[in-house]
Amino acid sequence: MRQSSLVVVANRLPIDDSQAPDGACEWRRSPGGLVSALHPLLRHTPATWVGWAGGTGPAPALPDVDGVRMHTVALTPEDLRDHYEGFANATLWPLYHDAVEQPQHHRRWWEAYQRVNQRFAEATAEVAEPGGVVWVQDYHLQLVPGMLRALRPDLRIGFFLHVPFPPPELFMQLPRRAELLRGMLGADLVGFQRVQAAHNFAQLVTRVLELPATDRRIGIDDRVVRIGAFPVSIDTAEMGALAARPDVAARARRLRQDLGDPRQVILSVDRMDYTKGIEQRLKAYSELLATGDVKVRDTVLVQVAMPSRERVGQYQILRERIEREVGRINGEFGRVGEPAIHYLTQPFDRAELAALYRVADVMAVTPLRDGMNLVAKEYVAARVDDTGALLLSEFAGTAAELSQAYLVNPHDLEGLKQGLRAALRASPADVTQRMRAMRAHLHEHDIRAWARSYLRALDEGGALVGRLS
Ligand code: G6P
Repeated sequence: MRQSSLVVVANRLPIDDSQAPDGACEWRRSPGGLVSALHPLLRHTPATWVGWAGGTGPAPALPDVDGVRMHTVALTPEDLRDHYEGFANATLWPLYHDAVEQPQHHRRWWEAYQRVNQRFAEATAEVAEPGGVVWVQDYHLQLVPGMLRALRPDLRIGFFLHVPFPPPELFMQLPRRAELLRGMLGADLVGFQRVQAAHNFAQLVTRVLELPATDRRIGIDDRVVRIGAFPVSIDTAEMGALAARPDVAARARRLRQDLGDPRQVILSVDRMDYTKGIEQRLKAYSELLATGDVKVRDTVLVQVAMPSRERVGQYQILRERIEREVGRINGEFGRVGEPAIHYLTQPFDRAELAALYRVADVMAVTPLRDGMNLVAKEYVAARVDDTGALLLSEFAGTAAELSQAYLVNPHDLEGLKQGLRAALRASPADVTQRMRAMRAHLHEHDIRAWARSYLRALDEGGALVGRLS
């Protein structure tokens, strides 16, 4: 069955596990940046998305969502354990994020990674039309480009890595490093978030595979694989329009009252992940409360931490530690009706999130390492009145673009405290000047600009780019 000329392949399908009451499927916008990035692009585009529906057992048949065909790949409980929870999220994820948690290596996980990648490649080979364009996403599927090329040499194949690509010293630890690199080189274009990542990749290809490589081109067999940086973005106009809606503005005012009408609100919105620096941020905040630099009556912190990968041990331990720390801080510094931290783990709809962004005087985005971080970009897009201070980690991909943010090193506790103090005490003129510059950048470099530049490079200006505008 051949369906449409663009096929997106990602581990997860972009729809919610639960159906809406009327039976319609909802786009699953959170947590995580991948779906947020691709959602505005693919809506109403004739495309097929190949992915996993979230459970185990036979692949359910799902309806089209906004014109996008959903093609499910079935995973068994063993696949889920050894591919998704194992190799993808307990080997590659920590390794690619500076090994802030110890990556684990098991031969059984590698076998599952190969098996599941092969299944994705076969499903894609089935639905892609002759000469079509296939866009493979992220670290779960690094072998798919090579496997797909073997099955369907007629396709144009793109690969984009949403997470950081590590320096050679770290990547060299992987027992199956050569196979992973070769898998990615099955693509015609390998895209990264940052120039440094493309450089790391080229160096590794030279060192491990002994192929001729520059930071732009790699020669393999009789082909040239292009590589480059394509920093992902958001639908800036859509978030701006949502935040400007009168009901969202009214909700923001109401939220502020509900928070006790503090002088300043600090907001953090993270997936519950050890890469996000939540514990370091809580520690900094707690020390500022202890020294009296921040007073509970004056300032509140709203920490949204959406549970993620809950069956992976490292994530379970993290959640317990965070919840203990939030409890300790509230116990020590809060008062009746005035907690120091408002801690929320429920998912938010887009309008509620936009209202939260509007209420936040300071947005603290301080990951230890992050491929991009679209929450930081969404905050900027939502600040339609040019106010609001963004406290941003130097180790988020976003920092390379939003250099007017208040930049901090989240590993440096004193620096983090100083950054938070600076953001809280910044003059309105300084805040506005920075915010205006960041907003101007995001209006130009939005998600459409990202997709156009990537797909133009992949498709060499073919018909596909026109259809995505
Ligand atoms: C990151 C990854 C995505 C992933 C998302 C959510 O943004 O780059 O590929 O989908 O996290 O993680 P999950 O494990 O829930 O898919």
